[in-house]
Amino acid sequence: MRDRALKYAAKHQDQFLDELREFLSIPSVSAQPQHKADMVRAAEWLAAHLRRIGVVESRAVTTPGHPIVIGEWTGAGASKPTLLIYGHYDVQPAEPFDLWKTEPFKPAVRNNNLYARGASDDKGQLFVHVKMVESYLKSSGKLPVNVKFFIEGEEETGSPSLTLFIEAHSKQLACNVALISDSSMLSPEQPAITYGLRGICYMQVNVQGPNHDLHSGSFGGAVYNPIQALAEIISKMKDANGRITIPGFYDRVQGLPDRERQVVNSVPFDKAQFCRDAGVADTWGEAGYTVLEQIGIRPSLECNGIWGGYTDEGSKTVLPSQAFAKISMRLVPNQTPEEIASLFTDYVLSLAPPQVKVTVQNLHGGLPALIDLNIPEMQAAIVALERTFGAKPVFLRDGGSVPVVATFKRVLGAPTIMLGLGLPDDNLHSPNEKFYLPNFFKGINASIHLADELIHLRR
Ligand code: BES
Ligand code: MN
Ligand code: MN
Repeated sequence: MRDRALKYAAKHQDQFLDELREFLSIPSVSAQPQHKADMVRAAEWLAAHLRRIGVVESRAVTTPGHPIVIGEWTGAGASKPTLLIYGHYDVQPAEPFDLWKTEPFKPAVRNNNLYARGASDDKGQLFVHVKMVESYLKSSGKLPVNVKFFIEGEEETGSPSLTLFIEAHSKQLACNVALISDSSMLSPEQPAITYGLRGICYMQVNVQGPNHDLHSGSFGGAVYNPIQALAEIISKMKDANGRITIPGFYDRVQGLPDRERQVVNSVPFDKAQFCRDAGVADTWGEAGYTVLEQIGIRPSLECNGIWGGYTDEGSKTVLPSQAFAKISMRLVPNQTPEEIASLFTDYVLSLAPPQVKVTVQNLHGGLPALIDLNIPEMQAAIVALERTFGAKPVFLRDGGSVPVVATFKRVLGAPTIMLGLGLPDDNLHSPNEKFYLPNFFKGINASIHLADELIHLRR
């Protein structure tokens, strides 16, 4: 059955690529209200596609936000494991458009890369597993395991509808293991399994000064500028050693055993390449930790955006009435977004000078995830990657967040295999996002092997 699926996949590469291009040409930007209809269009497109490959009752289910696509094929029977495939069909906004070499929603192939918004994050990566299922169903009429699809459209906006949906449909989503390709490998030759992700706590700080913009000559020097107040608050979030200064922030962060630090640092890491990928001259972060540790096992705080006052062309002498900042923190095991939000809020309010009014909003949050490397499903994934890439995968604690991993564990009791197929230079969330096409096709191969390996590894 497996070999027939592998053969089918090899034979249909051109068709698979054409279909992915069609999927990518729907601008499913979850954050932007003008794309609401495109979100429905993308969800319906995917549901119809799943029905066509043989997952016959697939459908797009409406939620208070964007639709969720679900489908299942349970023909392997109750004695076989069930694999839950998660992905997200929503994409980040494509702006700034003028920095794209080709249009973000007109997929273009250059140099073995497919360029489009969502190519890697996450339409291309989720499509890998759709094509795995097709390869089995179209070549043998069945799969070695049961599969369920669960593809959301709000991942890039913090998944507001997701947790309730999973809780309400926990029977329908019941599975032995979840599979997510929404992360990266190290290089085309070096596959990876992500076993840790950071959580997130996303906040906004609003500073209100005078109740209207003031003439900066008539009032400047005698009124507290809200931009200055905001800058002072932000400047007190970290010390010179890159340590976050919010009281209590590190209380639940555990010192890692040397063994774990060794695993994290055993990953081949080229600092010069990292700097080139980032476009910076040097790295900067919490003193006493390596870059891999700073990203993988230590929490962080970054200001994502700051605005206020006059920012258009030319100059305007104004003392603005308001200033704003979006600030997010990446969390590590034992930190919770609720607790961190409350510590952050208390600290910001304590720093606010009495001459301005500061308010803090909690935009969204998600828990970190850590997967046990010793579960049998990991073994299956290792074998699958090794068969496909001819190299053993390395194990990564990545700094990004996929909060659903913790929810699957809590609500469904299922661990997640994070089989990343992106590359460090895929330009996620950035202009000229791409997916390396050999990883698309190899990913399908690995997924076919994985489904086959899972039946040998019942708990
Ligand atoms: N696929 C990413 C997360 C990711 C990136 C994991 C790189 C591992 C390596 C995902 O689509 C994403 O961007 N998540 C957001 C989560 C947030 C909006 C809740 C993130 O990490 O910023
Ligand atoms: Mn993603
Ligand atoms: Mn993303």
